[in-house]
Amino acid sequence: PLPKPKKKFRWFRALWRLTYLSAIGGTGYMCYSIWESKHPVEDQPPPDPSKKTLVVLGTGWGSVSLLKKLDTENYNVVVVSPRNYFLFTPLLPSCTVGTIEHRSIMEPIRNFLRHKKASVRYYEAEATKIDYERRVILINDDSDIKGDVSSTEVPFDMLVIGVGAENATFGIPGVREHGLFLKEVGDAQRIRNRIMDCCETATFKDQTPDEVQRLLHMVVVGGGPTGVEFAGELQDFFNSDLKKWIPDIKEKFRVTLVEALPNVLPMFSKQLIDYTEKTFKEETITIRTKTMVKNVTDKYIEAESTGPDGKKQVEKIPYGLLVWATGNALRPLVADFIKQIPAQKDSRRGLAVNEYLVVKGCENVWAVGDCAVANYAPTAQVASQEGAWLARMFNQMAKTHEIEAELKELSVKQETAPGKEARDAVFTEIKELQKRLRRVKQIGPFEYTHQGSLAYIGSEKAVADISWLSGNIASGGTLTYIFWKSAYINMCFSTRNRILVCIDWAKSSIFGRDVSRV
Ligand code: FAD
Ligand code: NAI
Repeated sequence: PLPKPKKKFRWFRALWRLTYLSAIGGTGYMCYSIWESKHPVEDQPPPDPSKKTLVVLGTGWGSVSLLKKLDTENYNVVVVSPRNYFLFTPLLPSCTVGTIEHRSIMEPIRNFLRHKKASVRYYEAEATKIDYERRVILINDDSDIKGDVSSTEVPFDMLVIGVGAENATFGIPGVREHGLFLKEVGDAQRIRNRIMDCCETATFKDQTPDEVQRLLHMVVVGGGPTGVEFAGELQDFFNSDLKKWIPDIKEKFRVTLVEALPNVLPMFSKQLIDYTEKTFKEETITIRTKTMVKNVTDKYIEAESTGPDGKKQVEKIPYGLLVWATGNALRPLVADFIKQIPAQKDSRRGLAVNEYLVVKGCENVWAVGDCAVANYAPTAQVASQEGAWLARMFNQMAKTHEIEAELKELSVKQETAPGKEARDAVFTEIKELQKRLRRVKQIGPFEYTHQGSLAYIGSEKAVADISWLSGNIASGGTLTYIFWKSAYINMCFSTRNRILVCIDWAKSSIFGRDVSRV
């Protein structure tokens, strides 16, 4: 037998064992997840027309977290969305500069649906109208390739609206024509190309100094988390890659963040706002607060601010790249639906829902995420909790219907049962089922649990307001950045996404970001 280790080495040996056992466990789990993701369910039962048709609009945070938890055997599920993938939006700002490649944060909806117990129909289409009276959705194939049929109707018994929101422009002239948004994969690709185009054009032979100045001025409008994260990523890109590969632009490249309110990141605590503003100063990002953009042309924005004398002044700010991140607005589909429902006449920011996420004034219509107004911020966290809660509720509803049908059968059986003994036996069964029914029906209203807010602010620093017990922990810096990274890796949709994002992070830190324009 091996000699017993000395006492002082025992804890070390235990720790070592724990480490390698967790490593083996982790690797095993990862391999299983990869294997599982490649093997869809083979005998998915087809949609059953005798069941109720549940139509889900959208493949974003709200709809996908609903579909993830929904027992699809209970309903005839149909998904309609112009986007045949789920997008992990928290890492989208990193795609604008190539820290992460966009496909690493996309998960095809087909892969995901093929893992459900019962099959789900998916139509790549945009819902153009919800006809509540006729209980049908009008859908349109907006893709480049169209067949003989490119628009049709989908009837529904139950409907979940999870179409998210559009970019708000507040009707400011020129924004849609000249600005770039940051909501979808295409937006991130456009921004990445525009950054490179501006840099290459600024170094074009005999370019005038004023034009160089303009082209290398990157303006971000909106000091919410989208604008702040993008500005941070852009400055990182310049500091670690652009100035190395294009030294000519070194002295002239500037990032400016324009915000109408007195400070950026209004949803974060005061100390984190100050920390972000201080970090931006160190990174040489200019913050222009209390500055409201009123007009956009192809080469400059017109912004109104209050001068030191308290008087309003309008100035022209030339730009090469303009990223517009001023929050959310209603999608036309939602605006049209609001008009159809009298109870929604006062809804301005989205569909008013009750505590069960039912659209007010409707029956069997629910809304989740950014298109619903339930007194929570329009975030992924809220949308995914709403979707998951709704799935639980639908699963319970199906169980309730099942038990109620069984109860109906049993009461007929009880009436026709021969003799007292048989009747008593059925009675006991009924009592048991009624108890189960009461338990199943016990689902409380939706309650949101805020886990905190996180944002990347550049230079490998992040800010976090984390809810802890009944309080709040505010932290900012490099450790918070490590926490930000691990939290987002953990939240990624699939093992495949997690691995790809880690590879991208490693790739960009080893080789630098790619500065080619496609
Ligand atoms: P979305 O996720 O936007 O999904 C909407 C879906 O509906 C899409 O699939 C779309 O294609 C589809 N759709 C659109 N129109 C139609 C139609 N007519 N018919 C059918 N389908 C339609 N939140 C956080 O909590 N943390 C973060 O770190 C964070 N980072 C973000 C970073 C960026 C750059 C952005 C833009 C947002 C970020 N958010 C974050 C906010 C978060 O992404 C949204 O709150 C969330 O996506 C809302 O989910 P949703 O399901 O309502 O809508
Ligand atoms: P936002 O609504 O949070 O911020 C938009 C900002 O633009 C506001 O501060 C507003 O004052 C400003 N603005 C509006 N019009 C303006 C004008 N004309 N000129 C100058 N400034 C103007 O929008 P954002 O950042 O797009 O976020 C949308 C939602 O997504 C929010 O709910 C946010 O919490 C969430 N989100 C969360 C993230 C995170 O948690 N890390 C990251 C990105 C988004």
